[in-house]
Amino acid sequence: MYICVCKAITEEKAKVALKSGRSINEIMKKLGIGTDCGTCIGHAIECLKCPGPSGSANSHTPSKNNCSNKK
Ligand code: FES
Repeated sequence: MYICVCKAITEEKAKVALKSGRSINEIMKKLGIGTDCGTCIGHAIECLKCPGPSGSANSHTPSKNNCSNKK
């Protein structure tokens, strides 16, 4: 699932990058997440904070890992 449509960044790609030990902010900056329209920033941060399963393009399941758009 895409967490940043403008930069075509999937949750999987971002979580793989997160395994490098960098912070969420560093990963977002490196991948360009939120650097275009910016509408994805809050959701992307929530998704990257979620401990959900990684390695799956469909790992973002809001009802299971509590990283939904519950605003
Ligand atoms: S969707 Fe991420 S910058 Fe637009």
